[in-house]
Amino acid sequence: MSDLETLESEISAAIAGAESEAALEEVRVAALGKKGSISEKMKTLGKMSPEERQEMGPKLNGLKTRIGDALAERKEVLKEAALEARLKSETIDVTQPLRPAAIESGRIHPVSQVTDELIAIFADMGFSVAEGPDVETDELNFTALNFPEGHPAREMHDTFFFNEKEDGERKLLRTHTSPVQIRTMRSQQPPLRIIIPGRTYRCDSDQTHTPMFHQLEGLVIDKTSHIGHLKGTLEEFLKAFFEVDNVELRFRPSFFPFTEPSMEVDVKCDRSGNEVKIGTGNDWMEILGCGMVHPNVLRNCGLDPDEYQGFAWGMGIDRLAMLKYGMPDLRAFFDADVRWLKHYGFRPLDMPSLLAGLSK
Ligand code: DAH
Repeated sequence: MSDLETLESEISAAIAGAESEAALEEVRVAALGKKGSISEKMKTLGKMSPEERQEMGPKLNGLKTRIGDALAERKEVLKEAALEARLKSETIDVTQPLRPAAIESGRIHPVSQVTDELIAIFADMGFSVAEGPDVETDELNFTALNFPEGHPAREMHDTFFFNEKEDGERKLLRTHTSPVQIRTMRSQQPPLRIIIPGRTYRCDSDQTHTPMFHQLEGLVIDKTSHIGHLKGTLEEFLKAFFEVDNVELRFRPSFFPFTEPSMEVDVKCDRSGNEVKIGTGNDWMEILGCGMVHPNVLRNCGLDPDEYQGFAWGMGIDRLAMLKYGMPDLRAFFDADVRWLKHYGFRPLDMPSLLAGLSK
């Protein structure tokens, strides 16, 4: 075998034995690179006699071409094999469930949802939202609302008091949203039509009470509002909130220092199943307190009770949420358990609106 034939068969064997594109590239450099074996042979052509060159030129060029072709062919084979292997290792099992997008896993707390629902309903009736601080004065939480000093109604509120300050003032965590009635009546002129959603606090804890809870208060003050308007407002609200065509209400006489007369409102419901159904059945459930604003309260806000009158109501947002969405234990609302929130929470972009539906 001639030198060239030996070289060719060696390189060909190396090409055939290259198992990767990188290994093949090494073979190419060793043969056709600047200092490769074939290139070195090509360099000798210059020093040959014309006769020798005439013989060796075509032989070397032929070798170079055949090796080049063999390299290209092997490269194609290796490329395909690599692709094949990749396709095999990167298969997707289309029967796997989709990974949920981030937007799918966030949840809105039922208290936030129900607050938004309530605001949507009352905004539609022309109410605006008023707010006040959680830390409140005794005067606004009690005195201005016609709770006389030492009156037993104060004791019923299980108030969290702060330590007395040097000047004798003792602040408290508001026990209801009613002080915002006073704040609003003192800072705005009637006619007033407001709702007051917010946090409230009482020293109480069991399945249906937590030390912090949420209320929604309503207040209407003008010159002509009467108890019929109160009744109509509450009826319309409850129908919208429970998303039913009809509700039946029962007004029972009650007592609140800041209203006269005062009433408690029960809604007709069905308690026979696991969940309470509103709008049907033969049971009653207490749902809120209300009444006509007491003349003393109007006076405490600088309004003349002979000129102005109005009505107010107050209710627990958490309780409404429990009823509407069938959540049995109020304490779970504040446990921050993501499993609970995943089950009872609402999708972040499904904002409640009367047009599109409150809870759908
Ligand atoms: N503030 C009362 C409470 O927390 C609820 C209430 C009852 C508010 C009657 C009112 C009302 O505005 O008229 O128990």
